[in-house]
Amino acid sequence: MTTAATYAAFAATEARGVSPTYERLALAVSRDEEILALLDSVPPAKRQPNLLFGVVQFRGGPVAEPVAFHDYTVANWPAIEAELRARATQTNEPGRCAVLLPVLAALPQPLALLEVGASAGLCLFPDRYGDHVVGSGDVVCECAATGLTPPVRLPEVAWRAGLDLNPLDVTDPADVAWLEALIWPEHIHRRARLRASAARAAAEPPLLMRGDLVDDLPALAGQAPDGATLVIFHSSVLFYVPAPRRQAFTALVRELPGHWIANESPGALAYDALPPPPSGALHNVLALDGVPLAWTSPHGQSITWFAKSLPRDVDS
Ligand SMILES: C[S@@+](CC[C@H](N)C(=O)[O-])C[C@H]1O[C@@H](n2cnc3c(N)ncnc32)[C@H](O)[C@@H]1O
Repeated sequence: MTTAATYAAFAATEARGVSPTYERLALAVSRDEEILALLDSVPPAKRQPNLLFGVVQFRGGPVAEPVAFHDYTVANWPAIEAELRARATQTNEPGRCAVLLPVLAALPQPLALLEVGASAGLCLFPDRYGDHVVGSGDVVCECAATGLTPPVRLPEVAWRAGLDLNPLDVTDPADVAWLEALIWPEHIHRRARLRASAARAAAEPPLLMRGDLVDDLPALAGQAPDGATLVIFHSSVLFYVPAPRRQAFTALVRELPGHWIANESPGALAYDALPPPPSGALHNVLALDGVPLAWTSPHGQSITWFAKSLPRDVDS
């Protein structure tokens, strides 16, 4: 796919209906020969819309107006290029805890949570956030649930650990600023939630290990305490992992003790049969131990349960 086509597809399938600002900007970039030529000078993985727009936001540049964006990007290209090469899209969305909650609450408690692709580890606190049914606090994960009764209890977490190629540090203001820059312009509620969640995590920083989800998982899983149910989970990670490594990961995680929760796009983690998604918008599939259960929205805004059984206590 050309860079122009990547930006046009991003506008049409990812940003449309979610961020009018990024839809307009991505369309403008898809037709901007000068910026496309600059982007084609960096490796393909560094040309993504989310990365370029995040870097410009991070530097305080304009993303709301395509002409101003063009002028800023061209004038500041050496610095922008350096940031593109140094950074990666590591969006950490605590709202995804809401869709994990029905499964986490049904597992034998207490839990030893191990998240692969944890970014800053903000999804490692599903027991610390609230929504309208369960939990309390200033981090609210609103989620529209269809086809299931939301859990009435929070999971009990005995241990929490994350693994990431490049863990971000919630106590480092630059890392939190980068996470904020990755949030799309209109999503003011997500920005506020990120700040509150980062402050929450900074008060109790999780164990975050730098490492690969295949090579380094067994050693970290081995640190989980006895007497707790090990839960290895991941959300919006496998898209970034090459196909042979995804297969190595799924083979490995099936061999490890405990349970495995995946919340991934079906393009990154395929299942034999899935019902049609609830809308044409991008959706992830929530699965427990390889069995698909529900469609979920990318930031945890909604869950549509389709599995025959409702979430209930799962045998250990
Ligand atoms: C989009 S972020 C998702 C963060 C978090 N799971 C969430 O849902 O908010 C994807 C993360 O996966 C990490 N990642 C990608 N490939 C990885 C690998 N092979 N091993 C470990 N982490 C990886 C990236 O560094 C990034 O932090």
